[in-house]
Amino acid sequence: MNNPAPHVSVLLREVIDILSPKDGGIYVDGTFGAGGYSRAILEAADCTVYGIDRDPVAIAFGQKMAAEFDGRLVMLEGCYADMQELLADKGVSAVDGVALDIGVSSMQIDEADRGFSFMRDGPLDMRMSGAGRTAADVVNEESEAELAKIIFVYGEERRSRAIARVVVERRELSPFTSTVELAEAVASVVRPTGKGIHPATRTFQALRIVVNDELGQLVKGLAASERLLTPGGRLAVVSFHSLEDRRVKNFLSARSEGRARPSRHLPVNDEGPAPTFKHIKKGTIKAKADELEINRRSRSARLRGAIRTEAPAWTEAAA
Ligand SMILES: C[S@@+](CC[C@H](N)C(=O)[O-])C[C@H]1O[C@@H](n2cnc3c(N)ncnc32)[C@H](O)[C@@H]1O
Repeated sequence: MNNPAPHVSVLLREVIDILSPKDGGIYVDGTFGAGGYSRAILEAADCTVYGIDRDPVAIAFGQKMAAEFDGRLVMLEGCYADMQELLADKGVSAVDGVALDIGVSSMQIDEADRGFSFMRDGPLDMRMSGAGRTAADVVNEESEAELAKIIFVYGEERRSRAIARVVVERRELSPFTSTVELAEAVASVVRPTGKGIHPATRTFQALRIVVNDELGQLVKGLAASERLLTPGGRLAVVSFHSLEDRRVKNFLSARSEGRARPSRHLPVNDEGPAPTFKHIKKGTIKAKADELEINRRSRSARLRGAIRTEAPAWTEAAA
């Protein structure tokens, strides 16, 4: 492994403000990464943090960091969607705060062998956990129609059909194995934009989301947080594109109105369960000028925060 640049946490101050760590509290950092949030939580109060990550490299990093905190940082390898079960194994059934910072870390992007980057040649992999189907499996095995759908829905890419066509043509000659092969195929049918965004950006995003079931994880993770948080407990979620932010927004809007609204064009249903969250601030919190200047990733970051009420968690059916 070469030496990737350390991940710089996004919206760190703002996330800690939302969580307001307190002495004796129990916090979940569901996307540990390089541990930036965990470290700040542990330094803000005499509390315990459970650091979850599905990436074994992040877990190994966290285990070294844990030595600094005298038992107050506990690392758990797995998906944050399963946080309730992961914590139950440690005898924990309620927590005071949950932080989620969705997506990939800069260490994952910078490590060519992980296959997340179209800028560095590496195996077309993209699995955060190293298990399951790779991006190459998706690209080489899915039908042209399914590929077009994946790239359109999860990449919000208008040229999805042209991309799917060229992918299927080229894989018949030889299956895709590397990131650069795929990036070149995409670039052959997508014109670069004036904003300096690589033509393969949206296609790579789509594959990453599918390979890691990122949106499914988010929806399950939000519901698991609702079940785990004690009254007054705090939730902070940072997301990086509209597909994710929309899910966080819809979850928190429904849960704070306390009424199931089947569509925004239909009247709310007054029979619904009681609100389980209160918004800390309506809308999203974005990076301020000082952070934007030093961290490019912060440009697309959106933070939403909420406080858990005393109402029981909604059943899956009410979600
Ligand atoms: C953006 S980084 C987090 C950075 C972290 N907040 C920091 O300050 O260092 C996202 C991390 O979450 C992990 N991750 C993404 N989705 C996950 C999931 N569903 N379950 C567990 N970990 C996940 C990734 O492996 C990655 O290490």
